[in-house]
Parts: sequence; C-alpha cells; structure tokens
Amino acid sequence: MSQNLPKGMGKTVAGLAVAVAAVACAGAVVVVSRRIRERGQRAKCLAILEEFRTACATPVSRLRQIVDALVVEMHAGLASDGGSRLKMLPSFVDVLPNGDEKGLYYALDLGGTNFRVLRVQLGGKEGRVIKQEYEEVSIPHRLMAASGQELFEYIAKELASFVNREGEGFRPHGNQKRELGFTFSFPVNQTAINSGTLVQWTKGFTCDGVPGKNVVQFLEEAMAKVGLQMKVTALVNDTVGTLAGGRYWNEDVMVAIILGTGTNACYVERADAINKWNGLLPRSNSMVINTEWGNFWSSHLPKTYADEGLDADSVNPGEQGFEKLISGMYMGDIVRRVLLKMAQEADIFGKPIAPKLMQPYTLSTPHMSKMHGDETHDLRNVAKVLKDAFNISGTSLTVRKIVYMVCEVVCERGGRLAAAGVVGILKKIGRDGTGAGAGGQPLSRSSSAKNVSSRPRRTVVAMDGGLYEHYGKFREYLQQATTELLGEEVAKNVLIELSKDGSGIGAALLAASHSPSQKNL
Ligand code: BGC
Repeated sequence: MSQNLPKGMGKTVAGLAVAVAAVACAGAVVVVSRRIRERGQRAKCLAILEEFRTACATPVSRLRQIVDALVVEMHAGLASDGGSRLKMLPSFVDVLPNGDEKGLYYALDLGGTNFRVLRVQLGGKEGRVIKQEYEEVSIPHRLMAASGQELFEYIAKELASFVNREGEGFRPHGNQKRELGFTFSFPVNQTAINSGTLVQWTKGFTCDGVPGKNVVQFLEEAMAKVGLQMKVTALVNDTVGTLAGGRYWNEDVMVAIILGTGTNACYVERADAINKWNGLLPRSNSMVINTEWGNFWSSHLPKTYADEGLDADSVNPGEQGFEKLISGMYMGDIVRRVLLKMAQEADIFGKPIAPKLMQPYTLSTPHMSKMHGDETHDLRNVAKVLKDAFNISGTSLTVRKIVYMVCEVVCERGGRLAAAGVVGILKKIGRDGTGAGAGGQPLSRSSSAKNVSSRPRRTVVAMDGGLYEHYGKFREYLQQATTELLGEEVAKNVLIELSKDGSGIGAALLAASHSPSQKNL
C-alpha cells in the first residue's frame, strides 16, 4: 500500500494503523471489562433474587402450619379480649338479609383512599333491588392525617349533597326516616349493631382523636353540622357488608374476604363458641365474627429484610403483619425494596441510583401487576413501568427479566399465604374436609333448621377488593394453593366468588334487616 504514497507518508500511515489498532484494542478491553462487570452484577442480582426467593418460599407443608396457627389464634381470640393478635370481633350481626327487606336505604362505605355513597330501593322477595345509585368520592390525601372531625365533616358534606340529589324511584317505606348502613373498614370494637369504637387506624390513616371513640358519634355529629337528617342503623366492617351482600343472593355464602388496599376476613360463627361474649345468645345462635386477620402473625410466616424494612418505616410498626405480606397497599413496595437492594449492591440500574427508587411507595401494586402481566417478548411493559415509577430507562432485557421475577416471587408468596388464610377459616368452621372445627350455621331469619344433609355442603367465599379483582396472577396463585391445601375433591365444593362492591350494598341491606321499621313490614 505504501508504494503509491508520497515519501514519508508510509511511516505516518503505519503509525496511524498502530494507533487505530491500539484504540480498537483498548475499546475491546473496555467492552470486555464492561461485559465482565455486567456479568458480575448480573450474578450478584441473581444471587439476591435467589436468596429472596428462598426466604419467601411457601411449600404446602409451611402453608399447613400457617393454617393450623391461624385456627389456634382464632380460638384464642374468641376465648378472651386480648387473647390473641387476632381480634375476632363480634359484629353484633346475628341475622343476615334474606330478601324480605323493603324500603329506601343509604350506605356510606369508608375504607381506603375513596369512599362511596349509595342508595338502594328494596322491594322485598319479589322486587329485590328495584333501583340503586352510587357515587365514589376520593379522599384528599391530607385528610387521611387530619383531625377526625375534619375527615367526618368532609364525608358528611358529600353524603348530604348525594342525598339532595335523590330522584325518581326512591322513596322511604311508609313514614320511615332515612336510614344508613355505615361500612367502616377498620378494626372496631362493636358495642351494638349501630355503634362501636375504633381500635386503631390501618392502611395509612392516622386521623387524630378517633381511636378509642365511637365512630358513629363522629359521623352523626358531622351529619348534624351539615343539616343532614339520617339515622345510622348499622355499623359494619367491609367484610361483614360483603358477607351480607353475598348472602342476599346466595345462601351458601359463609365467609367474606377483602383483598384490596388492606385485607381481612369475616365468617359465620356459632354464638355459643364465642366464649368472650357476655350478651344474650341470639335466637339464631349465630354471629358474624370480624377476624381482623390483617393483624395475624405466626413464626411460620416467611419474613424477609424487605418486610422488616417496610414494617419499620410504616405508620404502624409491629401491627398488621399478615396484611403487610399480602395486601395491595404493600406488595408493590416490597418489590421496590428488593430492587433497591439490587441497585445498591449490584448496580442493577447503573449509577447514580434513581431518587424515586429510594422513595417508599413509588411503586404501587397495580404497577407491579402490570409488570408481572407483561407478555411482550421484550418485556416492554416492565420498561414502561420502570420509567413511569422510577424514571429509570435504558434497561437491558436481562434486567427486566430480573425485575419480572421479583414481582413473581412477591405475588406468589402473597397469593399462597392468602390461600392459607382462606383454608384456616374453612377449617375453623368445619368446611375444609377434615371434619375438624364447627360453626358456620346458616344464619338467616328463616333458616335455622336447614343444613342437615349428608350431601357435601357447598361453601361460598365472597371475595372483594381491587387486588383480587385486578391482579390475575395473584388470583391464580390463591386458587391453586387453596386447591392444593383442600385437595381436589373438597375444593370442588368451595367456591371463591368475586362479590364486587358488595360491602356498600351489604351495609344498606344490614341497615334494612336491623331497622326498627322492618318489624312492621
Ligand atoms: C382493616 C380491616 C378491613 C381491611 C380491608 C384492614 O386494614 O383493619 O378492618 O376490613 O383492611 O379493607
């Protein structure tokens, strides 16, 4: 080549070639060392993932231990107040709606970041639900930490404006006063069907002055202040509302569960099995028990550094342990905590660490569900969520696969633990196929002597909550583990049914079935 070059140029070109080769070589060294580093980081991430997966494992043997621990705690909670972390609160609901209810009833459903107001015109056995209307109102974030008065006044104002818009087709029965079923989805020590004191806030609420007080009084005072004439006939937990709503349509509903922002379960118990109950035994000898299982804890539950960190940073450390493993408010943040560890110890997303990755609750459970539901070949939904939630972009497919796997581990653990909860309750009422436990009477005004049959009994679990409704893979894990625990045969007679928004209408129905005006129907 140098033959045709002007004199002296040959040397220059040769020098250049050496330089180019050197640069190429240095480039190759950079690429190789970057690859080695990436491989090292990937190996470290995989090790973190593996360690986390092992710590979260829920083999069926462990689930059985959890089922048994739950049953033991249920007994202890029924025996005495404070006998267990499981509060096992008597709801004072000893009759469930049976279809005879008539008239106009309102409901107010408060339990998360939204509340719902609803009215329903009931037409008895023939007409059933003649007409219903509802509205959903979001609670401004600051009110979750404001004073109790402020919170209840806001709610009463919205309720009053809804009542003012009552239109055609809604009318009270005879000279019935407007009555309200109040679904209040927090732990409450009921003192009657229509009064009870808040034990403690959950799900991020911290409003001052309410714990230890009668929440119905708060609501009634707020209603009086805005000039709203209405009587609170029933105060119910959302699980109890869901049970009532489910039972209105289906006699086999014995258990209701919420898997949403928070989690909880209630079921029908034999009243004479509630040792701590001091009142008269109801005619039905049945009582709905609000377990408040969100606060369940057992040493068999798998707990990791991510759960410990989440609990320590929460507004209620040491409380709601089961809820923090399985509910919608927390699962996304558990994923975030694992990813943060991968970022800190294995540089998974490169440097510097995205500020939002360090901020609690930037990754919601709907985000997690979106990533976990990603079926695209390049996991582009995972990429999109990483961008939206943390402002992280440019991730490799390998990194996105690791993120996906973290979601999978957290979801699988949550779904399977929730299944252990379901089976624990079924075991307590003798509906898990083992013949153990007892309880679970039909509980309605007209059905005390039924239910004596040699046929396997069908048991319906009414399920509500956004987590269960919208997170398909969570639902699948829950169902699969329930079947594993019960065995195929028994599982055929246990139906978990979505009872969407049943808690609001259930509260209205309970207001009706406990209303003095129904006695004259
Ligand atoms: C509350 C329960 C409620 C559940 C579901 C929990 O945080 O303690 O009372 O039923 O959330 O809304």
